Amino acid sequence: MLVLRESDVTKVLDGAESAVLDLVRVVYAEHAKGLSIIPHSVFLRFPDDPAKRVIGLPAASRGDRPVVGFKWIASFPANIDREIPRASAVVVLNSLDTGRPEAFLSAATISARRTGAGAAVAASVFPPTQTDRLLLVGCGAINLEVLRFCQEVFPDLTEIALHDREQHRGELFKEKARQLWPRLRYRTEPDLAGACREYPLISLATTAGSPYLTTDFSPGTTVLHLSLRDLPVETILASRNVVDDADHVCREQTSLHLAEQHCGHRGFIHDDIGSAVLRGDVSSAPDTVTVVSPFGLGVLDIVLAAYVREHAGDIPRGVQIDDFLF
Ligand SMILES: NC(=O)c1ccc[n+]([C@@H]2O[C@H](COP(=O)([O-])OP(=O)(O)OC[C@H]3O[C@@H](n4cnc5c(N)ncnc54)[C@H](O)[C@@H]3O)[C@@H](O)[C@H]2O)c1
Repeated sequence: MLVLRESDVTKVLDGAESAVLDLVRVVYAEHAKGLSIIPHSVFLRFPDDPAKRVIGLPAASRGDRPVVGFKWIASFPANIDREIPRASAVVVLNSLDTGRPEAFLSAATISARRTGAGAAVAASVFPPTQTDRLLLVGCGAINLEVLRFCQEVFPDLTEIALHDREQHRGELFKEKARQLWPRLRYRTEPDLAGACREYPLISLATTAGSPYLTTDFSPGTTVLHLSLRDLPVETILASRNVVDDADHVCREQTSLHLAEQHCGHRGFIHDDIGSAVLRGDVSSAPDTVTVVSPFGLGVLDIVLAAYVREHAGDIPRGVQIDDFLF
């Protein structure tokens, strides 16, 4: 059994942005070809504290990198008030031959990087009319990763606006991002409605449990709706909707689930990321708003974890426990 700590994982992934983007593109395309096996995620909730949850994501890939495993990710939003990250996660990778667990990885960074890379891939195949300005709503770990990968797919990106319900989170984010990417221009934006009309590329990564963002977006905008519960049904129904997998995303009271309950069908979902990657086309929509709502496929975590395991040997990192199993 190979055990990889968070520091081992980041050591492998830092600087590997372009490889991670390639991997994510391949996994999306393989998913569209039916090469992934992804049962529905299991949501464990606490009735007396509904903001907390732990999600289990089993997955296997029959694609280029055959792999089977499981991600177990906890989301405790109040953690940030204690200055520890909201999300913590582990991934177990099993042998495809014997089923035996072979690797155990701390996976908060894996999960965040695959989310940021997935959003950037989606934005690159469903681009806004302009790609030099990005509005980040929710200044946490996920939008930092969105910013990391959006720069890779949109080299002309220069202006970053930040909005958070808690102003100091926006300021903290600005400091951190400025240290990582000093080339970019940052500003905090208190007027969310105005910024939503102004910015062509918007990433929503909040911890909102129900829709709050009733403002209009301008035609030609791409909205990366990563937190999945920010937008009201009317906005969903008025937009071009792109998902990663309709069966997964129309669950658990996401905005798309609410839209499906409202309409009684899923006809409002127009496309999926994997099919667009497979087609190889880049489809912008200057006359409408594109809303990308990726549920977050467990197979992305598992394939990225396998990549980390493979490259950890080069460094070398991690702890090998030979007598973990009988
Ligand atoms: N779709 C996916 O694949 C995927 C994957 C991972 C995480 N996520 C989601 O991304 C979201 C963000 O995760 P994170 O780790 O960055 O969380 P985080 O707690 O680090 O940051 C969230 C930030 O959003 C802010 N916020 C909360 N409600 C807000 C509102 N209504 N308006 C403006 N700001 C608000 C908080 O103050 C906080 O700063 C979570 O909802 C998580 O479930 C989605």
